[in-house]
Amino acid sequence: MTGAPHISASILNADFGRLADEVRRATAGGVDSIHLDVMDGHFVDNLTMGPVVVEAVRPASQLPFHSHLMIDKPLAYAERFADAGSDLIVFHVEADDDTAAVIDAIERSGKRPGIALNPETRADAVVPFLDRVDLLLVMTVHPGWGGQAFIADVLPKMRMLRDEIEGRGLEVEIGVDGGVNLETIGDAHAAGGVVMVVGSALYGSEGDLEPTVAALRAAAAKE
Ligand code: DX5
Ligand code: ZN
Repeated sequence: MTGAPHISASILNADFGRLADEVRRATAGGVDSIHLDVMDGHFVDNLTMGPVVVEAVRPASQLPFHSHLMIDKPLAYAERFADAGSDLIVFHVEADDDTAAVIDAIERSGKRPGIALNPETRADAVVPFLDRVDLLLVMTVHPGWGGQAFIADVLPKMRMLRDEIEGRGLEVEIGVDGGVNLETIGDAHAAGGVVMVVGSALYGSEGDLEPTVAALRAAAAKE
């Protein structure tokens, strides 16, 4: 049975002119973690933030920071994102570096490892690593931008991975990243998603995020 939804605020669509305030706003709104989208302009055709930004907003919240590395060379940066204040570091199975070596490096830095796969990537690319990571981030958009539409065709792959995890009694949690909102979070949760990454559906509104976070939790529970 999929656990209670964990809401992870993606700051990619937050106001970068006042990022620490935006992290505080999500924290006050009752989210469970902060999701920081790191892009290198190579793995995806966009550039966002480096360790210095993680360091800058770290004092703004006590919540776990999940750094999502959409970069070609995660091996070279794992330790730097760990030192900057990440609690969980998730990288892509499609990245250039050896997947097991990156997991080793994240663990050596004392942080929790996560692995992500793009919508077009087959489930069997990540199956060998499910017993080594805490988070399996299933992309439901093509990475690079917030505000995209949820790709529902990914749901059968998510269900297959959920069955694999449950069949082997593994601890890893499934994360869902991209286009998660009040309309899509129920299907994502029913397919095995627990860690719900929400960007524009949160930061699209001004003021107190508490009502939106509560509505997302309620919508997730609707099977
Ligand atoms: C996309 C990022 C996602 C995205 C989520 O590459 O990994 O975290 O920003 O934002 P929304 O919820 O707007 O799709
Ligand atoms: Zn992300």
